[in-house]
Amino acid sequence: MNNHKLHILVTGASRGLGASLAKHYAKKHQQRVRLSLVARDEKALIDCARQCQHYGAEVNYSVADLQEIDATMATIEAITQLPIDIAFINAATSGQSTNGEEPWVQQNTIIQTNLVAAMACATSLIPSMKKRRQGKLVFISSIAAYRGFGLNPSYNASKAGIKCYAESLHHALSTFGIKVCTVLPGFIDTNMSAAFSGAKPLLISSDKAAVIIQKKIDRDSSLIQFPRRLVAGQILLLILPKPWAEKILTRLAYGTVIDDPKGERE
Ligand SMILES: NC(=O)c1ccc[n+]([C@@H]2O[C@H](COP(=O)([O-])OP(=O)(O)OC[C@H]3O[C@@H](n4cnc5c(N)ncnc54)[C@H](OP(=O)(O)O)[C@@H]3O)[C@@H](O)[C@H]2O)c1
Repeated sequence: MNNHKLHILVTGASRGLGASLAKHYAKKHQQRVRLSLVARDEKALIDCARQCQHYGAEVNYSVADLQEIDATMATIEAITQLPIDIAFINAATSGQSTNGEEPWVQQNTIIQTNLVAAMACATSLIPSMKKRRQGKLVFISSIAAYRGFGLNPSYNASKAGIKCYAESLHHALSTFGIKVCTVLPGFIDTNMSAAFSGAKPLLISSDKAAVIIQKKIDRDSSLIQFPRRLVAGQILLLILPKPWAEKILTRLAYGTVIDDPKGERE
């Protein structure tokens, strides 16, 4: 009898899409899955772990701030002592520009968490996957990776960066038996999207997004992007002349937050 449990790592599992992915895999595989959950909010991680255990999943969690890169790599290496089958590199943060500017602290936090820490996680995961010639790295990027807009400069840059990194790893690692998947979701109803002040067309729940992702992961897709109409819209924006594309983006309130419309502060 094969006692192997599917071992799944989820970073950013305390809420939103990460928590939905953890719970969905727990429900689907029950006693046959072992989940390793990572985030900062211990209370929320315990809550997610309990919900997963309710389905029979084996769960452990690690409280980690992914901005602390050395500690993050040590945490991931400790988790890989039990070989990982699927790693969802999902944790991220976001922030908006105001009057065309983003504070440096915010930009640094976003790039560290969404790009540098995601690369560090992958770097810690690859050696053991390579040794086994098995494992899937799933990078949660965003449809925002297609084209930048004024409201989220550093977030968009982080998501474009991680998309490109994931595509590069796909090429580099395919001959070593490691599968790499890039996920470009549209709007998902979470804390992150609640803080986004622009239009959110075709918003879906995080539970629905988790199901879409799991189904495509099972089919070994290397690129998962949804919903289709938003993907088509992004491709259209790339083809249109820049002034037209920016006009559309401004209409959707993706320009920048104006907190001083009359310039009265000067
Ligand atoms: N929501 C959307 O519309 C949308 C659209 C496209 C792509 N995405 C992507 O989907 C993924 C999940 O986003 P979401 O919407 O679920 O966001 P969310 O609800 O804000 O959740 C973000 C998760 O990341 C964790 N996290 C953030 N900073 C961290 C840090 N320094 N260290 C450790 N964990 C950290 C948070 O946990 P703690 O706060 O507990 O640490 C939380 O679990 C992200 O990669 C996001 O870019 C989201």
